[in-house]
Amino acid sequence: MARVFSGIQPSGVPTLGNYLGAIRNWVALQDAHDCLFCVVDLHAITVWQDPSGLRQATREMAASVMACGIDPARHILFHQSAVPAHAELAWIFNCVARLGWLNRMTQFKDKSGKDREAASAGLYVYPNLMAADILAYHATLVPVGDDQRQHIELANDIAQKFNHDYGREFFPLIEAAIPVTSARVMSLRDGTRKMSKSDPSDQSRINLTDDTDSIVQKIRKAKTDPAPLPETLAELEARPEARNLVGIYAALTEATPEDVLRRFAGQGFGQFKPALAECVAETLRPIRAETLRLMADTTALDAGLRAGAARAAAIAEPILRETQALVGLLPAR
Ligand code: TYM
Repeated sequence: MARVFSGIQPSGVPTLGNYLGAIRNWVALQDAHDCLFCVVDLHAITVWQDPSGLRQATREMAASVMACGIDPARHILFHQSAVPAHAELAWIFNCVARLGWLNRMTQFKDKSGKDREAASAGLYVYPNLMAADILAYHATLVPVGDDQRQHIELANDIAQKFNHDYGREFFPLIEAAIPVTSARVMSLRDGTRKMSKSDPSDQSRINLTDDTDSIVQKIRKAKTDPAPLPETLAELEARPEARNLVGIYAALTEATPEDVLRRFAGQGFGQFKPALAECVAETLRPIRAETLRLMADTTALDAGLRAGAARAAAIAEPILRETQALVGLLPAR
């Protein structure tokens, strides 16, 4: 059985993009796989985080993930920093990955922006830590959104080079599980940009704990164009905002964008937006209630994450020890 691993940054409450691009897929994979889900706090500090804000955001993310349907009793949910094997394996991978590979990472280019010299060294080697997250468990199936595709390819390059350099097929090949209709949910303000927690405008995204009023208001104000919805997807190509809203509706109703157009073709956004808002609000109502309930007991949340970390460490440590032995490091014990 393929072992599933995925991670999410502690950006507080997840966005609809995180949900449709990744978390919903995590939930779907739960029934047939052994899964590990990780709140990646070490990745988060590659850019400055206010310490108490980070603690709060880590708990919020864990609570939201559980509220979406991840069962921490059947599977493993934990915070990355609590399992030292991630950072230890990442160091070894820092020595395997080539600068040329890291230089190609579009996410580093985007995140470091114009002032690359001022970016942290951690941001640069971020993909090596991500490879370690997955490979520390010999996980082979990684449910993510489309923006993580390049990082998964890099993880495979690292695994292959390690196996080649040390003469053993030790790390397995990783497969990214990327959804078809919601691999890239875009901003409500600009259909060419990804929906993201780092966008300064809260109007650009739906957060999983938004109440019905704010969902309705954000979707009503979402950028669109005056034309009615067309009959074919091809006609949406030059209309990224309209394309995005149709994609969200399709993902939420588990239909294809073509199905959505068949239903709404000829109608304007005055009709489509309220239908979409209702659909979003309906999906998020129970998630919001459960997140708030879980957030009311942070002691239990913290204890649950620590218990998850102990179970995760029990899998990762033997793999780390074997990696160290392959590299030629003397055993610590
Ligand atoms: P992060 O925290 O940015 O996002 C978490 C997951 O949500 C997906 N996602 C989206 N999908 C569709 N549309 C969007 N607008 C959107 N925004 C985010 C992401 O693709 C991701 O699957 N580097 C990772 C975290 C990570 C990880 C890992 C993932 C660290 N280690 C190991 C998998 C395996 C990240 O920053 O995701």
